[in-house]
Amino acid sequence: MFKLTLIAGLLLSLQLAYSTKLVCYFSNWSQYRPGSGRFTPENVDPFLCTHVIYALATISPDNQLTTMEWNDQDMYKKLNSLKNVNPYLKTLLSVGGLYNGINPYINMVATPENRSTFIRSALVFLRDHDFDGLDLAWEFPGQNGSSAEDKQRFAALIKELKQAIKQEAIDNRKTQLLLSIKAGALRPTIDAAYEVPEITSEVDFLSIMTYDYHGSWEKVTGHNSPLFKSSLDQGTHTEHNIDATVSYWISKGAPAEKLLLGFPTYGRTFRLTTSSTGLGAPANGPGDGGPYTRDPGFWSFYEICTFAPGAKVEWITEQSVPYATNGVAWVGYDNQESFAAKVQYLTSMNLGGASVWTLDLDDFGGYFCAQGDYPLVNHLRNSLGFPPKPTTTQPPTTTPDPIASFCAGKPDGLYPNPADVNTYFQCFRGNTYLHRCQPGLVYVDACKCCNWP
Ligand SMILES: *[C@@H]1O[C@H](CO)[C@@H](O)[C@H](O)[C@H]1NC(C)=O
Ligand SMILES: *[C@@H]1O[C@H](CO)[C@@H](O)[C@H](O)[C@H]1NC(C)=O
Ligand SMILES: *[C@@H]1O[C@H](CO)[C@@H](O)[C@H](O)[C@H]1NC(C)=O
Repeated sequence: MFKLTLIAGLLLSLQLAYSTKLVCYFSNWSQYRPGSGRFTPENVDPFLCTHVIYALATISPDNQLTTMEWNDQDMYKKLNSLKNVNPYLKTLLSVGGLYNGINPYINMVATPENRSTFIRSALVFLRDHDFDGLDLAWEFPGQNGSSAEDKQRFAALIKELKQAIKQEAIDNRKTQLLLSIKAGALRPTIDAAYEVPEITSEVDFLSIMTYDYHGSWEKVTGHNSPLFKSSLDQGTHTEHNIDATVSYWISKGAPAEKLLLGFPTYGRTFRLTTSSTGLGAPANGPGDGGPYTRDPGFWSFYEICTFAPGAKVEWITEQSVPYATNGVAWVGYDNQESFAAKVQYLTSMNLGGASVWTLDLDDFGGYFCAQGDYPLVNHLRNSLGFPPKPTTTQPPTTTPDPIASFCAGKPDGLYPNPADVNTYFQCFRGNTYLHRCQPGLVYVDACKCCNWP
């Protein structure tokens, strides 16, 4: 299992100065996967992402923010205790899903009173459980049983939430809670659901779901998350790609720096019906569910990387993404190369960063792909230009080494390294973490930070 004592740390100084976000979701249901697929908050690397979002909480019939799983409260505690290890980590709780088969947002946004009940309960709930913010995951206002007026009501909810968040921070002398949205990618959804300038000006960031563009509900193969359109695309399918989504959000008035590109750590599968295996090949229905995720049409990255030695991997040049085939199974997915291409794109568009769906679908423990822990998200982090995670000393061994045993018996906190001014120690529960300042900076104990000499 993943060990807290072996993880490495981010540079304090850079973390403060660096505004690019790497937001990572994980799901409450990943705890039920078998064997090495089981994922709990102990598997979250506290230094990998800038923000970690727990999915999902929901809304009760009387409009209160509430838990979904019997053990959510325990999970919240474990997740939020990671902030003792990395004090710069931010955590958010994502609210969505269905309550007894009904979308609970519809009732909640319907009147100012119902919204206000939710807002009051949400702020107390988040503080009680030590979260740093709220992520609204309504799929989607103005669609699927939600009336056209819900577009305005959703915007009103966001405006009122932001107002309450500001007031709560003043009243309790605390840092403002963060507010984000998990938002749709296709033009009809964006048009029906979002008053773009009104909502984007209030939230801290939006995680755009730039995936699920194609899947086994279609009769020919298509990629889950293509960067650009394919020359085979016709009609509205020419908009089923990341570039079209980002351009549309920006044309509707979204500030680029609030938009985070969605990075899927999964692929979508098809069952081929002829001998053709390319993009646009005839298909009928989903491939079998993976052995761990058990959802037909869907495979995690760790299930794809073990997708039989006979698989043939191809690169779709026009769309900058790979697919693999083996027998009648076809999967369009993402790998390190496509993640790097998408980072290049988000950088060229001056977007605010990346949003990963999800941590639990990457090879988080390094059990499957022989590429170490979190091969996709670590690669994403590096591609975004984050500093390498500093090395960590091993816990004390039988022959005590002066560095490894530095923290033995010391209170948690930061300490100068007498042997090297460019580095410093972080002590946490008696374990020693050695961090390195950015090149040119030295550790200053007075501010517990890295600064110019
Ligand atoms: C996790 O949250 C989802 C929300 O969509 C909910 O439907 C589900 O019951 C929860 N638990 C599991 C095990 O899926
Ligand atoms: C507001 O919430 C209550 C439940 O607390 C519900 O009975 C009522 O129908 C909601 N209002 C509207 C207009 O949906
Ligand atoms: C729309 O509602 C139906 C039935 O309630 C549900 O099965 C489906 O998943 C929903 N679609 C979305 C996009 O939420």
